[in-house]
Amino acid sequence: MSKINIVLGTFFGDEGKGKIIDYLATKSDVTVRCSGGNNAGHTIQVNGKKYAFHLAPSGILTPGTLAVIGNGVVVDPRVLIEELEVLRGDGYSIENLRISDKANVIMPYHIEMDKMLEAQRAPGDKIGTTARGIGPCYCDKYERCAIRMEDLIGDTFEEKVRKNVKNKNIIFKANGWQESDAEAIIEEYKPLAEYLKSYVCDTINLLHDCLEKDMSMLCEGAQATLLDIDFGSYPFVTSSSPSVGGVCTGTGLSAHDIGEVYGVLKAYSSRVGEGPYITEQNNEIGDTIRELGHEYGATTKRPRRCGWLDLVALNYAVKVNGITGLAINHLDTIGKLPTFKLCVAYEDNGVRTTNYSTNAAFQERCKPIYEEFEGNFEIGGATRFEELPEKAKIYLKRIEELTGVPVKFIGTGAGREELIVR
Ligand code: IMO
Ligand code: MG
Repeated sequence: MSKINIVLGTFFGDEGKGKIIDYLATKSDVTVRCSGGNNAGHTIQVNGKKYAFHLAPSGILTPGTLAVIGNGVVVDPRVLIEELEVLRGDGYSIENLRISDKANVIMPYHIEMDKMLEAQRAPGDKIGTTARGIGPCYCDKYERCAIRMEDLIGDTFEEKVRKNVKNKNIIFKANGWQESDAEAIIEEYKPLAEYLKSYVCDTINLLHDCLEKDMSMLCEGAQATLLDIDFGSYPFVTSSSPSVGGVCTGTGLSAHDIGEVYGVLKAYSSRVGEGPYITEQNNEIGDTIRELGHEYGATTKRPRRCGWLDLVALNYAVKVNGITGLAINHLDTIGKLPTFKLCVAYEDNGVRTTNYSTNAAFQERCKPIYEEFEGNFEIGGATRFEELPEKAKIYLKRIEELTGVPVKFIGTGAGREELIVR
């Protein structure tokens, strides 16, 4: 029996999970997405071409690797098909795709609801969602009125659309928002169902069969721990469980089936959307990091907020997820600064603490305590740890010391090969 290795985000997303996933996917027989939807954006550079995946499991780029969209994912069929068509156009086969019959379908009214709710929030209360309908789709899931992939391709689709639209329109109407047209949605989605039909199956038994056959399995996380509906900075979070628990609920695999848990981070940090961010550098330093690291959203193109790496938050992600190995990206980027900082603790009302909390008052009160490191080092493209300059090694060693977790992967550039594996 094999186990499933997992790649997760440790901060607010955009840690470069795609790069690590891409490397591991080439060595896996199966890659699985378990949560989130096309709010995720994983940029992978292959043969000089950039692919921004939002839904397709990255394993789809590796011939012979099963690419599975698990039951915990919310699927916008229009977006998925668009991605598949780009891949097909570039000569990739999509025959290894499998979509859970229990994955929930994002409908046009989810997107409208997402936009309406965000528009109604007062300036300080806005979440800054990706407006992809993610939250409202998960709401329907928990409300038990969702349309699943099995409905989309089955006989229950039309009736469920009509029922849902009727209910949503009551809300839209009351809020003076454009109402949805059930018949137009049914017409638009029918050909999409036809396109996706042959890829939909029972992925729960499929994944267990793969484990039994001792196939190597990779779960590619989307979003990240601090965006988790339970463990993140609520309410400035996404509506799913991007931390390790979401792997079980989003695939049907059990806790016993989990192997390595790799936590991905950047040598600095970033956040898109609203919410607290203790090590944010809302100043020239943040601007410099944004430009050096090209920190603009893959999904929404928004400029990302940038700041220093926060080990208090990272250690929280290590605890919550049981992280067994770290993957650090953008070491090349941080090296371009003359000096840089690492947050090693917080000062909470004059008391030093290393215990993270997403409590809003705590986040407001705490001041970061930093250690400073020397930059001005060049590592562009290094592929072996020994090649790294001493200054870079000192930084990595300190992170290992303060987390107790080995650094297993180091991103040294944007390209697929610019990676150190230890
Ligand atoms: P990847 O997989 C960064 C953020 C949004 C917003 C909040 C809620 O690329 O790391 P949602 O549309 O999910 O309801 O928005 O969550 N967010 C992300 N930020 N990377 C992501 O995914 C994100 N997915 C959601 O910006 O603040
Ligand atoms: Mg992103």
